Amino acid sequence: MYVKYCSSLKSRPKADAFVVPYVIQKGKPKLLVIDSFDVREAHTAIKCGDFTAKQGEHLTIYSKQLNEKRLVLLGLGEAKELTVELLRRTYASLVKDCLKKKIEKVITFLPDIKGLSDTQVARGVAEGMALANYRFIKNKSDMKEQLLKGVYFLSASKAAKQVIGETLKISDAVNFSRDLVNDNADVVTPQYLVKCARTMSRKYAKLSSTIFDKKRLQKEKMGLILAVNRGSFRDPALIMMKYRGNPKSTEHTVIVGKGVTYDTGGLNLKPTGSMETMRCDMGGAGSVFGIMEAIASLGLKVNVTGVVPTTENGIDAHSYKPGDVYVGYSGKTVEIGNTDAEGRLILADALAYASKHLKPTRIIDFATLTGAMVIALGHVATGMMSNDDCLAEALSTAGEETYERVWRLPLFDEYRKQLKSDIADIKNTGGRGGGSITAALFLKEFVGDVPWAHLDIAGTAFISSADEYRPKNATGVGVRLIVEYLKKT
Ligand code: BES
Ligand code: MN
Ligand code: ZN
Repeated sequence: MYVKYCSSLKSRPKADAFVVPYVIQKGKPKLLVIDSFDVREAHTAIKCGDFTAKQGEHLTIYSKQLNEKRLVLLGLGEAKELTVELLRRTYASLVKDCLKKKIEKVITFLPDIKGLSDTQVARGVAEGMALANYRFIKNKSDMKEQLLKGVYFLSASKAAKQVIGETLKISDAVNFSRDLVNDNADVVTPQYLVKCARTMSRKYAKLSSTIFDKKRLQKEKMGLILAVNRGSFRDPALIMMKYRGNPKSTEHTVIVGKGVTYDTGGLNLKPTGSMETMRCDMGGAGSVFGIMEAIASLGLKVNVTGVVPTTENGIDAHSYKPGDVYVGYSGKTVEIGNTDAEGRLILADALAYASKHLKPTRIIDFATLTGAMVIALGHVATGMMSNDDCLAEALSTAGEETYERVWRLPLFDEYRKQLKSDIADIKNTGGRGGGSITAALFLKEFVGDVPWAHLDIAGTAFISSADEYRPKNATGVGVRLIVEYLKKT
């Protein structure tokens, strides 16, 4: 979706719909005017009571007055109650209606809203539109890609234009992340992710990639990634994407993402009904790729390394076995309580390597780690567990700002005993109680004393029904959150 600007109503380009936003003020729809624009045809609709400007309401008038075929009245709701999030939702609903009607170009203007700055408005409007303008229909023979192609804004300020430009880049990165997670597990393999990293490092001068292939993983003794990989015919990899946007700074954020390209559960095979969506199990990797794409395309002045341990969790005669003990990169021995708790194993090797060799000032990991997280927070918020209050606080704030909300759970010591093993240093399962917390405590063993936050996105990376601007299936969660967080640090 491109965005263009025109400075006057008279010189505006051709579009399929002219969109006019209204708020409710003193119980009545109030047009957020520009120039001397008078939409006579709208008065009739309002007089009849067919349009009340409720949030998300739209009315299409097939116009005789305008050059555009359609005049769309868009309701923003109560003026006093408007927020950036409500703008996102409202403009997302507008785009979804455009998709249904196969509208390709719309023309509109940014509403002037008391209590919100013009850059806040620009962000809410552009983000809602760009995030809703997404479909994954590559495998539907009877559908062709029909997205909203262009939006023209009349009279936007310089600052608003700047924000819209940034917002579009971030939204593109979100949609890139969604594509990676939505596509077949037999397409998006560890080797495919390796190729993505290489492509990105060619595209951006400040980004370089290092790949550990199976041989190198063996040499480095990353025994936990290798254990999970044993049941798969595809090789595993550890992908590292280094972005240096601020060489003078010693700050270095490492972002780790779980890249299980398909999770069968291994010998502790998942039952029917639990496996069908498990191509989403590289959702953490999807977040990392989206984040790297966003910060590189924005050219943010930050230093970030994206780290993705990736493999399938397959099943065959070579599979790793429940009850056996494996040794990872850190040297700690791990008893396998369940081969379906594979995410924490591959993350353990990645986290141990990152904290030892990459000199991180903080580590943030994304993982579709536990079913327990879906039970606790559903699809609304991402679970956060952290050893650092300052980092946790900053991520919570970024979550409120972007509405990619995170909710913190405790890492009390008492939970740690659930991971005790009689035959090894630690076990990879901790029973049913506090399943998301014990999973996080397992990870904590491998980060040393680096400030770290773990984001369990099992409920938020992939959703079974769409909401306002999150389409069904992959959501691209985490990209907007981390860009916001990095901008503030
Ligand atoms: N990938 C799953 C977690 C998951 C479940 C993600 C639902 C998205 C939606 C993870 O590897 C897993 O299987 N976890 C087990 C751990 C258990 C065996 C300790 C789980 O949550 O059941
Ligand atoms: Mn699993
Ligand atoms: Zn998994």
